[in-house]
Amino acid sequence: MTDTLNSIAQLVTPCCLIEKSKLQGNIARLSAHIGELGCSLRPHVKTHKSVDVTKLIENGGNVRGITVSTLQEAQHFFKHGYTDILYAVGIVPNKLATAASLIEQGCDLKIVFDNTAMAAMVIEKAAEFSCTFKVLIELDTDGHRSGIEPSSQALLDIAGLVNQSQNIELCGVMTHAGESYSCFTHEEQLAMARQERDLTLLAAERLRAAGLECRVLSIGSTPTAFAIDDLTGITEVRAGVYAFFDLVMAGLNVCDVKDVAISVLASVIGHQTEKHWAITDAGWMAMSRDRGTANHPTDQGYGLVCDITGKALTDYIVNDANQEHGIIRHRDAKQPMNYDAFSLASMVRILPNHACSTAAQFSHYYLVDEGKVIEKWHVTRGW
Ligand SMILES: Cc1ncc(COP(=O)(O)O)c(C=O)c1O
Repeated sequence: MTDTLNSIAQLVTPCCLIEKSKLQGNIARLSAHIGELGCSLRPHVKTHKSVDVTKLIENGGNVRGITVSTLQEAQHFFKHGYTDILYAVGIVPNKLATAASLIEQGCDLKIVFDNTAMAAMVIEKAAEFSCTFKVLIELDTDGHRSGIEPSSQALLDIAGLVNQSQNIELCGVMTHAGESYSCFTHEEQLAMARQERDLTLLAAERLRAAGLECRVLSIGSTPTAFAIDDLTGITEVRAGVYAFFDLVMAGLNVCDVKDVAISVLASVIGHQTEKHWAITDAGWMAMSRDRGTANHPTDQGYGLVCDITGKALTDYIVNDANQEHGIIRHRDAKQPMNYDAFSLASMVRILPNHACSTAAQFSHYYLVDEGKVIEKWHVTRGW
């Protein structure tokens, strides 16, 4: 880090800031919880796509491998020494060559089957390769997205197909309780977490009763990972967004707004005084288009505005966004703007709705501590 970059005010906007002490606090909180329950974490690196963040998570303890959402992430992390990798998006035949190349280089990659017909297609294609592909079957434990029902015949059908193939090895099952993003209370999150766990245990029992292998039971989302109170029988928990946290997680009371480690640094570029607006250079290219708090009791627009030190100006949000323009106004459109807090060329920090989608807009993060820029970390991108 050069001296010229050590003050936040000297950065060129828009750029992405990570408060290191908050990042470390968030990481420690989940590592401790999962450790107390005697389980392991398989952090989802799609949130930050950063080897440096992953190293901090490993330092927090209880980590077993990583989860990725693209094969590009798998390649990047493998290049940086990570071998135990779960690619947690259902595989299609066109990706097998990339997966095979990673496996042949020594990567302990696990891929995912989420329906019988696709499993059959992938198994047929896999016969063209000489390596063995390790597989988890994805379970739908909450009706949220993909996977098969834990009590369905499809579970045994997929396992049966895998068993007959020459070079596919069934390792276990995985699920992601994405519906926990609609659970606003701890009680709802706990019920969702227990459901995610219990249906995963059920699927494993059914596979074992049929004489099939099921040594990996992988579950997780940030709300359910924090809520769960007993992980007996589960081998690993996956979570990603907890490292940075965001306004969606704060809206669900999984964290506090002050725990959000990620923000976008923006400059005030103009005023529309009749409309009570301040315009910044952080539009949706910087914030992302994610409006994850739109259905929350407190809608945060495209982000909550903080001053340059990170103190939330809770009355102000990015109410609208164009590609490279953000429009800040008071939550109550009728209220006048306090232009003292938004003078021309001054800087503000904006907390995002969804850390993963905002972080993915940037090629690097500036790590900050006590108002100083202390490090610059690379972010990998693409597919
Ligand atoms: C398959 C899978 N596992 C784990 C996670 C982590 O969940 P969260 O972002 O809530 O930490 C995700 C997030 O989308 C996911 O898709």
